[in-house]
Amino acid sequence: MAEETVAVGLMGLGTVGGGVVRLLAANQEKIRQKLGVAVEISKILVRDPSKPRQVEVARGLLAVDPADILEDDRIAVVVELMGGLHPAREYISRALARGKSVVTANKDVLAVYGPELYALAGEHRVDLLFEASVGGGIPVIHPIREGLAGNRLYEVMGVVNGTTNFILTRMSAGGQDFHAALAEAQALGYAEADPRADVGGDDAARKIAILASIAFDTIVTYDDVYVEGITGVTPADIAYGNELGYTLKLLAIARQVEGEVEARVHPAFLPQGHPLAAVNDVFNAIFVRGDAVGQTMFYGPGAGQMPTASAVVGDIVEAVANIRHGSCSRISYPGADRRPIRPMGDVRCKYYLRLTVQDQPGVLARIAGVFGDHGVSLASVIQKKTVDGLAELVLVTHEVKEEDFRRALSVIAGLPVVRRIENAIRVEEEWQ
Ligand SMILES: NC(=O)c1ccc[n+]([C@@H]2O[C@H](COP(=O)([O-])OP(=O)(O)OC[C@H]3O[C@@H](n4cnc5c(N)ncnc54)[C@H](OP(=O)(O)O)[C@@H]3O)[C@@H](O)[C@H]2O)c1
Repeated sequence: MAEETVAVGLMGLGTVGGGVVRLLAANQEKIRQKLGVAVEISKILVRDPSKPRQVEVARGLLAVDPADILEDDRIAVVVELMGGLHPAREYISRALARGKSVVTANKDVLAVYGPELYALAGEHRVDLLFEASVGGGIPVIHPIREGLAGNRLYEVMGVVNGTTNFILTRMSAGGQDFHAALAEAQALGYAEADPRADVGGDDAARKIAILASIAFDTIVTYDDVYVEGITGVTPADIAYGNELGYTLKLLAIARQVEGEVEARVHPAFLPQGHPLAAVNDVFNAIFVRGDAVGQTMFYGPGAGQMPTASAVVGDIVEAVANIRHGSCSRISYPGADRRPIRPMGDVRCKYYLRLTVQDQPGVLARIAGVFGDHGVSLASVIQKKTVDGLAELVLVTHEVKEEDFRRALSVIAGLPVVRRIENAIRVEEEWQ
C-alpha cells in the first residue's frame, strides 16, 4: 500500500457493502483530491467467501476472521455493514476501544447499544459516524448534529420507513386494503418476505430513538419508544380522514415537552398542508423544528443500495479527514444529560374515532356525555352511512391527554348503544 493511503476495513459485503465498494472505486480520484490521501479497502469481512457477489473484489480481500480487521493496526477506519445486534455490537466496541474510527449504517445496534458505543467513542477520542442509519441517503444526522447545533431543537418528526409509506400511499390513492398494498410492496421488492419490523413500526422506532438522542442531546433507546404499526389501518379511515382534510402517515415523533422527551411511532393523520403529508411512495423525510431555524425538512431516498452507500462513503470521507487532522470526535455524543421519557398516557393530541352505533335518537349525546365526563371535548362529528339500523359515526376530538381519551373510550365501548369501536387514530395538528 502506498504511503499516502488510509486503510479501511469493511464488515459486510451485501447490498450496502457492495454499493460502498462500487462508489469508492467510481469516485476514487475525486475522494483522493478532497482528502489529499487515497482511501483503500484493505479487508472485507463476510460469512461465506465462496458466495457469488454482485461486485467484483479480489478474493484475497475477503476474510472470515474479524481479527483480520480489528487487530490490524494499519486499518484506521472500520465500516460495519453487517446489520443486527450481534456480533455488530462486539465488533464496533472492539474497533473503538482499539482507537479505530467506526462508520455504521446499523440502526438496530445504535437504538439499543448507542449509549455504550457513544461513550466508548468519546473515551477513545475516535469517530462513530452513522449517517446511513436513518433516512438512507438523506443527510440528516450531520445537519442535526452540526448544522443545527446553534438551535434548541424541540421537535423531530419523520416519515422514516419507506415500506409503510409505500403501503399507505397505495391505500390512499388506490383504495387498496392493507394486505393487497403489502403484497404489491413485496412484489416490487420494497417489503421483506417477513415485513413485521416495518409494518409493526419497530424499524421507525429504532430510527426515532437515534434522532431523538442526537437532536435533544440525551439518551433515548428503542425501549423508550411507544410503538404502534399500520396493520389496523383501513381504506375507510383513510378516506374519511381525507374528507376531513387529513393525510395518513406512519409518523415517528420526538418532542421535548416541559423537561421530558416524547418518543413515539404510530399511524397519524396530518393536515394535508403539512410538508410531511406530501412525502409519498418509498420516500422518507424528516421535519425538524428549532428555536432559531424554525421549520426545516430533509427529504430523499430512505433506503436502497447506492443512496445508502452515498451516506456511508460521506462518513468514511469525514472519518479519514478527521484522522488526517487529528481531530476526531469533535462534537460530543449524547448522554451527558439524561432527560425523563414522558409516559404515553401523558401525551396530548387530537383523536379521530370511528364507531358503529345503533341508529336512534340520543346516541351522540350519550357518547359526548362520556367524553365530557373525562374532560374530552369534540371538535367535529360526522354521521356516515346507515345500514340495517346501524349508523357509522366519525368524531374528531379537541386535544386530549391520552389516558383520558383511553378511559373514555373503554366506557363508550361498553355502552349498549355502541356496537363497535372501529378505529381510533391520533391527529397531529400544528404543535407549538
Ligand atoms: N439495504 C438498505 O437499503 C439499507 C438502508 C439503510 C441502512 N441499511 C443497513 O445497512 C446494514 C447492511 O444492510 P444490507 O442490506 O447491506 O445487508 P445484507 O445485504 O444482508 O448484507 C450483510 C453482509 O454482512 C455479512 N455478515 C452478516 N453477518 C455477519 C457475520 N456475523 N460475520 C461476518 N459477516 C457477516 C454478510 O456476509 P455474507 O455475504 O457472506 O452472507 C453480508 O455480506 C444493516 O445494518 C442495514 O440495516 C441498509
